Amino acid sequence: MNTMPCKAISVTAIDFSKQRLGALAEQVGWHVGDITQYDFGSKKFDLWHDRAVFHFLTDPAARQAYIELVRRSVKPGGYVLMATFGPNGPLKCSGLDVVRYDAQSLHNEFGEGFSLQGDELTMHHTPMGTDQQFLYCWCRVSQ
Ligand SMILES: C[S@@+](CC[C@H](N)C(=O)[O-])C[C@H]1O[C@@H](n2cnc3c(N)ncnc32)[C@H](O)[C@@H]1O
Repeated sequence: MNTMPCKAISVTAIDFSKQRLGALAEQVGWHVGDITQYDFGSKKFDLWHDRAVFHFLTDPAARQAYIELVRRSVKPGGYVLMATFGPNGPLKCSGLDVVRYDAQSLHNEFGEGFSLQGDELTMHHTPMGTDQQFLYCWCRVSQ
């Protein structure tokens, strides 16, 4: 079992990504923090892409904080691409409970101001040789 706190894992993952990118890493803005409490300040993004983070938010208040951050941080007309465990995905990951979604239930979480553009279920083959069903869902932020 991995007992490292999330932040330590994220820092390790980011260091690894920086090493892989080499000199190009200087062209990337790197942020580490709890996404339910984070603030990007005045930064606005064209695209928000989350793979396998949102489904760890089992507390409705944490999900609401996340969605408010997306609302504040994505430009009007920008895109949100979410990847979560699908309806037949695992119930837990790394020993932690997760929430599984289909396109409608995920879209219902985001609510007004986001228009669903498409969705797809796919099978992710993990390095451990297991399969995990993922939902990819993309929507547009109202202009
Ligand atoms: C399964 S990994 C996915 C990593 C990467 N996005 C990918 O697709 O390979 C889940 C990640 O969610 C991060 N995470 C979970 N809860 C978080 C939170 N409240 N704030 C920021 N990151 C969080 C963990 O630190 C971990 O890096």
